[in-house]
Amino acid sequence: MNISRRKALALTGAAGASIVASPFIRPSWAAGEELKVGLLLPYSGTYAKLGEAITNGMQLFYDQNKDKFGGRTIKFVKVDDESAPPKATEYTNKLVLGEKVDVLMGTVHSGVALAMAKIAREAGLPTIIPNAGANDLTGGLCAPNIFRSSFANGQPGFATGKAMIDAGLKEAVTFTWRYAAGKESVNGFKDAFTQGGGKIIKDITIPFPNVQFQSALAEIASIKPQAVYSFYAGGGAAKYVKDWAAAKLSDNIQLWGPGFLTDGVEKVIGKAGDGVKTALHYVDDLDNAENKAFREAYAKAFKNNASVYAVQGFDAMHLLSVGLQAVKGDAGKRKEMFEAMGAASFNSPRGPFKLSKSHNPVQNFYLRELKDSKNHNRGLAVKALGDINKDCKMG
Ligand code: BEZ
Repeated sequence: MNISRRKALALTGAAGASIVASPFIRPSWAAGEELKVGLLLPYSGTYAKLGEAITNGMQLFYDQNKDKFGGRTIKFVKVDDESAPPKATEYTNKLVLGEKVDVLMGTVHSGVALAMAKIAREAGLPTIIPNAGANDLTGGLCAPNIFRSSFANGQPGFATGKAMIDAGLKEAVTFTWRYAAGKESVNGFKDAFTQGGGKIIKDITIPFPNVQFQSALAEIASIKPQAVYSFYAGGGAAKYVKDWAAAKLSDNIQLWGPGFLTDGVEKVIGKAGDGVKTALHYVDDLDNAENKAFREAYAKAFKNNASVYAVQGFDAMHLLSVGLQAVKGDAGKRKEMFEAMGAASFNSPRGPFKLSKSHNPVQNFYLRELKDSKNHNRGLAVKALGDINKDCKMG
């Protein structure tokens, strides 16, 4: 009989020796017993809509596949992390120590995720990152219990840089938020763009989550580069693209970025975003059966269009179901569970889903163009792009 230490101590107090003999001891979980999944996500601030879409995607996968979690029922426990790195440790501990969650899912902001992962790593807790791209999470700081259903920041950056070279661009200014995601995204972009012969004219940054873009836009107008590469997401991205259009820069300068610039904010941006080009591991009109079914079910359930964030939440729960099925619901069997998750391979709405040895998705990246409030698929930018950061040494 498999007995979790926490439950055994709760049942027997200090008299641990009597555990095995007692006929009243329950297994570490009973059929249908709740598994607590802690969601550390932003439900306020510039990334609030991203947290909401991820949560919806998770809920949708669970509602459609309740029988695929090894006999467990799932209870979600939510904490709003506010995308605030200084509060990340406190909020993670609320879930890990306070709620004693069995599984941790989080988060969106790279800085918050780095603090969260430190705690998760020490606790050995099954953890799935449904967005945050900090390269180190599946690089130098990788761990057997940490998985990502999204991307490493360098991946979309690299794919966008390659697509810009393929489009014949030769010079660019970068303009991003000044934190891990912006920096790593720009580095990935520069790798591909400079390898392809492109030249970086200037790097401009503003602090996260500042949305005062005007003075940088004026500077860009005076530089007149062929193109600008920008990492922004959520509410900040919507405002940026609208400010860009209002400044009438599109007449002479192309705006490019990783797909976060236009994903999930198409309607808010409206016609102002026509012509903005991005690269990402997902695009709404991907022609596969899983995507069509997913988008239809999502729209029906949430009266809203699905986004890349919803896909990442959906796939995070898919990954968890693979792990729990392998251990028949006993999340205490961590080694077996992690092995099954690491070897997971399934068809996602984004296309084929599998993980590298460092637990980061190896995936296709698509060139997209925003037109009439829709991101359109303009073809493959990079096929099966893997980890940019190769520092992972699994302990
Ligand atoms: C990040 O902080 O890693 C991130 C946030 C939003 C979109 C993409 C990446």
